[in-house]
Amino acid sequence: MPVRELTPTDALAYRLLTSSAFGGSVDPADPAASAPLSPGQTAIGIDSAALPGGAGGVLAAAARIRHDEISLGGGRVRCGGIAGLAVHPAHRGEGLFAELLAAVLARCDEESLPVSMLYPSNPEIYRRHGYQVVARVETLEVPLVDLQRLRSVPGRRTVPVTAASMPRVRALYEEVTAGDNAMLRRQGPLFPDGLPGQGWEAVLLVGADGQDRGYASWTRRRGEGPGLEVHEVLGRDREDLRALLRVIGSWSTVTESVRLRVRTEDPVLDVLPGGGSRPAGGTVPLVMMRVVDTAALLTARPAPTGLSGALRLEVTDDTVPAGTCRAEGLFDVHVADGRVRAVTVPRSGTTSAQSSAGPSAAHSPEATAGTVLLDVHAASLLLVGGRSLADARRLGLRADADAPAEALLDALLAGPRPSVLDAF
Ligand SMILES: CC(C)(COP(=O)(O)OP(=O)(O)OC[C@H]1O[C@@H](n2cnc3c(N)ncnc32)[C@H](O)[C@@H]1OP(=O)(O)O)[C@@H](O)C(=O)NCCC(=O)NCCS
Repeated sequence: MPVRELTPTDALAYRLLTSSAFGGSVDPADPAASAPLSPGQTAIGIDSAALPGGAGGVLAAAARIRHDEISLGGGRVRCGGIAGLAVHPAHRGEGLFAELLAAVLARCDEESLPVSMLYPSNPEIYRRHGYQVVARVETLEVPLVDLQRLRSVPGRRTVPVTAASMPRVRALYEEVTAGDNAMLRRQGPLFPDGLPGQGWEAVLLVGADGQDRGYASWTRRRGEGPGLEVHEVLGRDREDLRALLRVIGSWSTVTESVRLRVRTEDPVLDVLPGGGSRPAGGTVPLVMMRVVDTAALLTARPAPTGLSGALRLEVTDDTVPAGTCRAEGLFDVHVADGRVRAVTVPRSGTTSAQSSAGPSAAHSPEATAGTVLLDVHAASLLLVGGRSLADARRLGLRADADAPAEALLDALLAGPRPSVLDAF
């Protein structure tokens, strides 16, 4: 199936395809409908005219690949964020999804994006292609009586966020989330400078010494239910978070509760003083990730201080045609001096047959801790960090290992569970 890169002249056809799939209306007469897609992404698609009975000027299937970057336990790695993937209703049920997704992964590999991420509307169809749920974005409804009793925190003051102070908010976000796994780095054309707009507001928390300590951001809405959507409450320590929650509590005269978006193991959860929070209604957005280039993903992560050793890693991937990307393969992984080195081992018939037989059968030099065998689903779960091989096995994914090799890989990948706050 001919999958091609979309050009600015395809913008209208792409918007018609996605508005039909996800909602919204597009007026072809409106020049905005034909405006080029925003920079920092690649769009690919399949022409309807290339299919039997297809129509000219119509896209049968298309998707965008965002050129994102995510944190990786103190390192960072480029990430292909998949957005706006849709198949035209006239061409559904004919296998275009699998064709398009394989092309998406090949393109991520070509563009040196070692991992891919998406918010699935249907996780199962992506799971079949090696994506794994690694995180969920949760929204809590927090009663403001819970925040009213918070005392003021000495040595902290809040200041309004303006376009001029926005770079300080960005810098704080980068600094506070650098050690996390999977948080988007908010840079480049996908995150333009300046205030986000659309009613977004924020306050910066500043210490007595003038150091920026945290911020809270929200959107105020009119109408039924909680009128305050709190997007982020980030601080350097617990006192910073308390001071920011106190600011949120000041809305208690005009609303009874707020919606608070929290990430996995959000430190804010450990500071909320009252126990009245409950999950807000609606579906819980899942975050799925997939390894595209195992060696590159491994080496992007700094190794914990003092950890050293070597192991042989085999990743199998039967979800896409062989050679689609560089997830599968045999890798010699060396950990030393705070760094990871992963070397692809050329497959000779014997090595491959031996290593597929079981962990101990792998041909590894004496000095290694042994072998780890992962299917692509386990690799996608584990290599973004914060999970153990035992977690993968509990999910029924293939994660077999010699015990010392398992301990080494677990130690390398230890850290916070992946979490993401940005939706696309
Ligand atoms: C979901 C969508 C992309 C599937 O495209 P498609 O080309 O019809 O899918 P395919 O024919 O390649 O089918 C792929 C597999 O997914 C399954 N599938 C397709 N749509 C499905 C659905 N809505 N629910 C569950 N399974 C579905 C098919 O049964 C098929 O499984 P099989 O290989 O075991 O037969 C398409 O229906 C669509 O564009 N929907 C609206 C937009 C959307 O949901 N996009 C994904 C957003 S993350």
